[in-house]
This record gives sequence, C-alpha cells and structure tokens, in this order.
Amino acid sequence: MKAIVYTEYGPPDVLQLREVDKPIPQDNTVLIKVHAVSVNDWDWGLLQGTPFVNRLENGLRRPKKIKILGSDIAGRVEAVGKNITQFQPGDEVYGDLTGKWGGFAEYVCAREKQLARKPAGMTFEEAAAIPQAGMLALQGLRDKGQLQPGQKLLINGAGGGVGTLGIQIAKTYGVEATGIDSTGKLDMMRSVGFDHVIDYKKEDFTKTGQRYDLILDAKTNRSIFEYTRALNPNGTYVTVGGAGPRVLQALLLGPWISMFSKKNIRLVMLKPNRDLKYMNKLFEAGKLKPVIDGPYKLSEVPEAMRYFGEGSHKGKVVITVIPG
Ligand SMILES: NC(=O)c1ccc[n+]([C@@H]2O[C@H](COP(=O)([O-])OP(=O)(O)OC[C@H]3O[C@@H](n4cnc5c(N)ncnc54)[C@H](OP(=O)(O)O)[C@@H]3O)[C@@H](O)[C@H]2O)c1
Repeated sequence: MKAIVYTEYGPPDVLQLREVDKPIPQDNTVLIKVHAVSVNDWDWGLLQGTPFVNRLENGLRRPKKIKILGSDIAGRVEAVGKNITQFQPGDEVYGDLTGKWGGFAEYVCAREKQLARKPAGMTFEEAAAIPQAGMLALQGLRDKGQLQPGQKLLINGAGGGVGTLGIQIAKTYGVEATGIDSTGKLDMMRSVGFDHVIDYKKEDFTKTGQRYDLILDAKTNRSIFEYTRALNPNGTYVTVGGAGPRVLQALLLGPWISMFSKKNIRLVMLKPNRDLKYMNKLFEAGKLKPVIDGPYKLSEVPEAMRYFGEGSHKGKVVITVIPG
C-alpha cells in the first residue's frame, strides 16, 4: 500500500511517499481502508520532534515507534479480527487513532473503541475533520466549561479545528459567541456562527472592557492574568493547549486564582473518541458542518503539513486518501 513515511524529525520535506506492507488485523483490531484523514497539531509536533515529550514518546534521535503519522481517519472496514463484535466489513467508520497513528496511509488497523459509525450523509472528509478537534471542543465547552444557555462565550484561536467545531456545538446551547483569530479567517468564522469576531492583530480582547462567562482557548498565548481580566466574576477559563509555558502557568496559578476569586481555570485532557455519537447526533440534526480546507491528495501530505504549520488554514486541513 502507499503511505507517507518519516524516518527523521524535521520540516515537512522529511515526509516521503513510499510503498509499505499493508497492515494485518490482529484478533482485537479492525482493518480500515482509509478514505480521508485530517491534520492535527499533534501530527505537527511529532513531525518536528517538539516539544521534547514527543521525542520521549517516539524516539530521542529519530522516530522509532511511529513512522506513519495521521490520527483522525475515516474509511471503510475491510476486515475484522476474530474478537471484533461491533463492526463488519463494509461498515463506514471514523475515529482518532492517537497513540498509534498510521492514518497517512491507504490502510490502517484500529481497535473497536477507537471507532464510531459514520452517518450515511456525512462525507469521509467531514468525518475525518471531527474526532480530535471535536472532542477537545466538546469536552472543553460542556465538561470543563459547564456551558449554560444565555452565557457569553469567547473562543481564542477560533478559526482552526477546535474553534470552528466548538462554535457549532456552543450555538446549540443558545450562547452569544465571540471568536478571536487573524484577518483572513473572520468571514468564515461569522459564517459558522460567531456573533462577533476580533482580529487579534488589530485589537486586544483583554482590553476592550468586555467580560465573558467562558473562555475556550485553543492557542493559550497570553498570561493567565490577561485571560482572567476578561472573565466575569464567576467566569471560567478553559485551555485545550497551546504555548507550553502559558499552559503550565495557567495550571500552576489556577488553584490560587480560584482561592482568591470565584473564577475557575481548567485544562482539557483529551478523552479521544468518547463523544463521537454526540457529534453524529448534531450532524444528523443539521447542526454541525465541519469546515474543510483542501482536500489534498495523499501524495500532497508534505504540502498539507507545511500549510498547517504556517497556520493560515481555515477549520481542518483534510486529505482524501482513497476517494470514497
Ligand atoms: N489537551 C489535550 O489533551 C490536547 C490533545 C491534542 C491537542 N491539543 C491542543 O489542541 C489545540 C488544537 O487546536 P486546533 O486544532 O483548533 O488548532 P488550529 O487548527 O491550529 O487552530 C489554531 C488557530 O489559532 C490561530 N491563532 C494563531 N495565533 C493566534 C493568536 N495570537 N491569537 C488568537 N488566535 C491565534 C491560528 O490562526 P493564524 O495562525 O492565522 O493566526 C489558528 O486559526 C492545540 O493547541 C493542541 O496543542 C490538546
């Protein structure tokens, strides 16, 4: 089968299209023909070998455990191991293969619990756009953020995967939402539901005097004190990730801030795939439409990764692997 392989850390140029052995499903795995895969920040980190924790995971000097990146896949079940009970050949599935990766390839194996059925009306590209960013957004808004109807929500880094899926989830709660991102993404952000948009290059949302009940942060590029300044007295700040030192600061100072005020500081620890059925219901109700940038072809993964790394993508960067 064809796959995008990497044998050294570095820029997207180290990614190579190669012929490799097709994986064979074990007793407890499913073999999937991959129709689409999307790019996540985690793929970018594993490609570069930064932050250092990615090298602890995948080899200090060069990638050892994972040679094929790509975690958010959508495809058709081709074969199943003998212990598989929930899926059979022909089923259309999608999910996040974090921990194993292997999605930048024509075939990949996955465990049952990593997969959900894809609704018939959802394209493979739409399905591949949902798992990781969708779970981060939902678990941030609903579980950590305890989002309530009528609240004022702000999403920082709102034009990427988490923001464009998050706003559509949030709108089902009936909230007033503001999104922060760069100039070229603002029209798209309005089109997916943001009531207000702010260009971070032109205006500093922490200094406008506006206060929010919930801030969901996909970028975490400011000090925790700037974020808490923009919160209402009982407000909650939730980070899904971003600049390591800023995330660490939020984690370390969060309990102290909560001790001296009624503001809450929370971090999302991704629970992959846990709520894909929730996303299916939103999609089937016409309330969720992933924003797709691309799709690229499998041979164009280096280009897609470079584009993702530049940060100018809108929504999710998606690759069509085998056209469905
Ligand atoms: N918590 C966990 O367990 C876990 C697991 C996996 C991933 N993550 C994290 O989840 C996040 C993924 O988010 P995502 O998929 O939405 O990323 P994304 O698609 O890269 O979106 C991030 C957005 O932020 C914008 N941005 C850049 N600089 C900004 C600034 N100064 N102010 C406001 N916005 C800015 C970018 O646009 P421009 O570049 O055009 O400005 C981009 O649109 C990452 O931080 C990742 O590390 C967390």
